[in-house]
Amino acid sequence: EIINILLSGGIGSRLWPLSRKSCPKQYLTLFEGKSLFELTVERNQALTNRTLVVGNQSTKHLSKQIFDSKGMDQVSFVTETEPRNTAAAICLACLGLNPTDIVLVCPSDHMIGDEKAYLQAVSKAYQLACKGFIVTIGVQPNYPETGYGYIQYKGNDVLSFREKPTLETASHFIESGDYLWNAGIFCFQVGVFLSELETYEPEILHASKEAWNKQIDHIIPAAYMKQIPSKSVDYAVMEKSRRLQVVAAEMAWSDLGSFDAMWDYQDRMVSKDEVANSNFVISQTKKHVEIIGVDNLIVVETEDTILVVPRYQSQAVKEVYERLAIEK
Ligand code: GDD
Ligand code: MG
Repeated sequence: EIINILLSGGIGSRLWPLSRKSCPKQYLTLFEGKSLFELTVERNQALTNRTLVVGNQSTKHLSKQIFDSKGMDQVSFVTETEPRNTAAAICLACLGLNPTDIVLVCPSDHMIGDEKAYLQAVSKAYQLACKGFIVTIGVQPNYPETGYGYIQYKGNDVLSFREKPTLETASHFIESGDYLWNAGIFCFQVGVFLSELETYEPEILHASKEAWNKQIDHIIPAAYMKQIPSKSVDYAVMEKSRRLQVVAAEMAWSDLGSFDAMWDYQDRMVSKDEVANSNFVISQTKKHVEIIGVDNLIVVETEDTILVVPRYQSQAVKEVYERLAIEK
């Protein structure tokens, strides 16, 4: 049976002030009372009962609530006391499994519009993973997002993988038509991934092994977490591996990582004639918001904060979050 590794350690800083340290993006109940985490769990329930969540201590109870409410009892947790990005998170999850186990690694904070297409793509990815490939799910790009990875592909073959290109490069990629967005969903045999990590980032593997050996009830002590180099799996393995393959999925997908991405996703969900909005307003209170004489503005209004940012600059919200760096 395939094992679902759920990554839930991100903070969603580009969605501040909606996303907060105490309730990061993936746990916000923005979708008819459900969170992206819950939607991810539901989507994968059709595939497997075995789930492994890698995340931090402070949000573990939020994940547990979801599993309890669904009566899922084959769930385990690996708790990072210090986040060290996705290469380490995936590696730590793998170290507790068998080399021949096949895993599906999923971010817990994505929106996927078409479940059937998703399950089809995963099933294809599973077949390729059985043959020893690291398989990533790709989706058709529709604007030059600089926060994603780009996959140059031919069939299932990956010709190149480029993580977070500049706007100029991303625009070239989109124009060429040869690229997919990396959806950040990976399927592979545990042993294959660990051996690729050993080849390209031996320090991450070795420091993670050391840290894993010091785990107590699957909680990794901070002193050992800190020794692991912090790198995303995209830079650490995907840009370098020659065992990478891709499965293109015909599904509406969004990382919903920034307000731009949210806006874009919303536009695609409603028919073109309905898209009359020249500004994007998210209001969490009962306040009425009016905007006159300006276009392409994102306005987010919560109990204690108002954020105003021009469209296409919403990546910069991260810097505000980091500057404030306070529990809000
Ligand atoms: N456990 C754990 N620990 N999870 C983490 C950590 C960590 O230190 N850092 C990030 N995550 C989780 C996030 O919560 C998210 O679910 C997932 O890992 C991906 O991390 P992001 O930080 O959101 O990555 P990204 O959006 O910048 O880029 C990745 O995803 C894009 C698609 O959404 C890359 O894979 C890109 O290539 C890809 O296009
Ligand atoms: Mg993301």
